[in-house]
Amino acid sequence: MNLVKYIERLPKAELHLHIEGSFEPELMFRIAERNNIQLKFRSVESLREAYHFTQLQDFLDLYYAGTSVLIYEQDFYDLTWDYLIKAKANNIVHTEIMFDPQAHTTRGVPFETVIKGICRALNDGKEKLGISSELIMSFLRHLSEEDAFKTLEESLPYREMITAVGLDSSERGNPPEKFGRVFAKAREYGFFTVAHAGEEGPPENIWGALDLLNVSRIDHGNSSMLDNKLIEKLIERQIPLTICPLSNLRLKVVNDLSSHPLKTMLHKGLRVTVNSDDPAYFGGYINDNFVAIASALSLSKEEIGQLVQNSFHASFLPESTRQKYLHLLDDFINLEIR
Ligand code: HPA
Ligand code: ZN
Repeated sequence: MNLVKYIERLPKAELHLHIEGSFEPELMFRIAERNNIQLKFRSVESLREAYHFTQLQDFLDLYYAGTSVLIYEQDFYDLTWDYLIKAKANNIVHTEIMFDPQAHTTRGVPFETVIKGICRALNDGKEKLGISSELIMSFLRHLSEEDAFKTLEESLPYREMITAVGLDSSERGNPPEKFGRVFAKAREYGFFTVAHAGEEGPPENIWGALDLLNVSRIDHGNSSMLDNKLIEKLIERQIPLTICPLSNLRLKVVNDLSSHPLKTMLHKGLRVTVNSDDPAYFGGYINDNFVAIASALSLSKEEIGQLVQNSFHASFLPESTRQKYLHLLDDFINLEIR
């Protein structure tokens, strides 16, 4: 089996996916029309042409503008279902998706509308597509601590639908310590924690996410490579890093994929995983990410298998389900390369 087919057929888990970042222009225009909302762009093509970013903030401006058409529960259902269909086509068997409630509640859309639409689709994903999932509620770090606390309280009636809280949006100027108290409260409520760190920010933000936010994994974590002590700690504790190759390329975190640190990270013993982040904006879903990085770094089938295995180890799955997936994966790899 050639490498592309091997990647396509591997049963995979995705751990770093913003549901609002899976909003394809075609669906965005369809929902805008039915909600009588005028987008700034005249066509799907002109919107796609605007997807040229020089840094994270350029992308975030378009990403938040895109969310403005999402008003009703059905809109959030359609957004999530659209991603799940893509996930199925990519042979994703388990996904842990992030959502940004504040991108919607700040526009007057009730928290309940957002979470009910997303969760109804995730339940259908389980029943009709056989995809298991966990939900991660991310706080927007450019907003205040008070706003994050308010969002945390709003989520409590839906506590059992949410596995973890996270931290995303503009990393520069918004370090993890800004949310130390909110994350402490979230842990008291029993949420796991994750955080974007070391995407555009320094290794200090990764230290902060570990020491102050007590995260179970780091989203991105690229800048860990600048700090040997940090690398040692991440290896020792086997803290997963959710790496997103095409996102890193499009947001200029790396100049080209051949200089991406993923392979070096893997060989050092870091628990790295491959994910798509915001696939509608960055030019590819999980298989595209694997194919692009495997080609740029000449990854072997063994290395790709290890990356996929890492994702299941890094997931929030209950142990029995994790083992079931790991056996499924092992069987596939054994058949293919051993
Ligand atoms: N980084 C930070 N915030 C985000 C991202 C990202 O890649 N995607 C959506 N929100
Ligand atoms: Zn992200």
